[in-house]
Amino acid sequence: MLALRSIAAPAQRQAFRAAPRAVSVSFQNRFYSSRVAQFTGQKDASGKYTVSLIEGDGIGPEIAVAVKDIFAAAQTPINWEPINVDPILKDGKTAIPDAAIESIRRNKIALKGPLATPIGKGHVSLNLTLRRTFNLFANLRPCRSVAGFKTPYDGVDTVLIRENTEGEYSGIEHVVVDGVVQSIKLITREASERVLRYAFEQARAINRKKVRVVHKATIMKMSDGLFLNTAREVAQDFPDIEFDAELLDNTCLKMTTDPTPYNDKVLVMPNLYGDILSDMCAGLIGGLGLTPSGNIGDECSIFEAVHGSAPDIAGKGLANPTALLLSSMMMLRHMGLNEYADKIEKAAFDTLAEGKVLTGDLGGKASTKDFTSAIIDRL
Ligand SMILES: NC(=O)c1ccc[n+]([C@@H]2O[C@H](COP(=O)([O-])OP(=O)(O)OC[C@H]3O[C@@H](n4cnc5c(N)ncnc54)[C@H](O)[C@@H]3O)[C@@H](O)[C@H]2O)c1
Repeated sequence: MLALRSIAAPAQRQAFRAAPRAVSVSFQNRFYSSRVAQFTGQKDASGKYTVSLIEGDGIGPEIAVAVKDIFAAAQTPINWEPINVDPILKDGKTAIPDAAIESIRRNKIALKGPLATPIGKGHVSLNLTLRRTFNLFANLRPCRSVAGFKTPYDGVDTVLIRENTEGEYSGIEHVVVDGVVQSIKLITREASERVLRYAFEQARAINRKKVRVVHKATIMKMSDGLFLNTAREVAQDFPDIEFDAELLDNTCLKMTTDPTPYNDKVLVMPNLYGDILSDMCAGLIGGLGLTPSGNIGDECSIFEAVHGSAPDIAGKGLANPTALLLSSMMMLRHMGLNEYADKIEKAAFDTLAEGKVLTGDLGGKASTKDFTSAIIDRL
């Protein structure tokens, strides 16, 4: 039994015991018969892929120019298709303009700069709207220590996958009686299976031999129990990947004590845990400014930096493009353009490690343009 082979620590044993028998997982009708979220975009006659580009707000256009210049210097086979996602109202709801939706649907891939979200007024978050419009069910967040940028932790290399569509963020809340509210955590086998399957496939793609589910099935016996049981079933289709599970609190304690034992694993978890733990991992490598991400869907995927639009430095030429650049490296690998990603990523990491040309957020004095040129010089 796969679940038995993977049981190691007492905490895991406890979690497995707690998983309910009542929530059965039948895989007679699997939701997935082929690879999850496979990129199906096609090259044009000149041998290039077209990528939809949302430059975004604030520093977005400045860091997008940096990525475009570096891609051009590396002769990456990409044509950019800039799109405007200024929100429109459709039937009283915030929506993305049709032309932007058509572009992303056609190209099946997009790179996105930060979008400012109005607080407490105006349209709902465009980031959320994009996730909902394209059913981007998995949020992929790698966090790797950047040589030359010292933090309390060295050698961090975590890969975390968060379920992006349901769980605690399903938005089902109501008042039971005055002073009592209820929020429903929705977990479905279908959404669990697709994100879990993606986690195993991602482990294979990046040569990691272990997938670990992070959960609280000891307390949320039915909801996290279903997620965990589904993971056990999915794991049977990936005999080359070791599978185990760990309680969320245990993961937090162990990761902040020494994150390096997580360097050989892909972590996968329900929505809320992933939201919190992915930012915690970003903290281990020095914050959100260096953290890339991918929002993965079956129809298309959108890659973006985790940081915001930085209105305080927008237009000043001071922004650090690293996070968007690393997000674009994830995008290239998703598209199978690994050799370009490896080349550009090495140039970027070497520039950072040398420490001579760094932007202000990393303690340097360089402008966005200087930093971009330093990377291009190394290509
Ligand atoms: N994914 C997204 O599109 C996204 C994510 C977070 C925030 N936002 C939006 O961005 C706006 C600003 O949010 P915020 O101020 O809370 O967070 P922020 O990430 O924009 O800025 C926080 C701090 O980090 C600095 N910073 C961020 N990115 C940087 C970079 N690339 N180079 C150098 N310094 C950088 C900023 O100057 C600021 O001091 C808000 O409207 C928010 O809703 C968007």
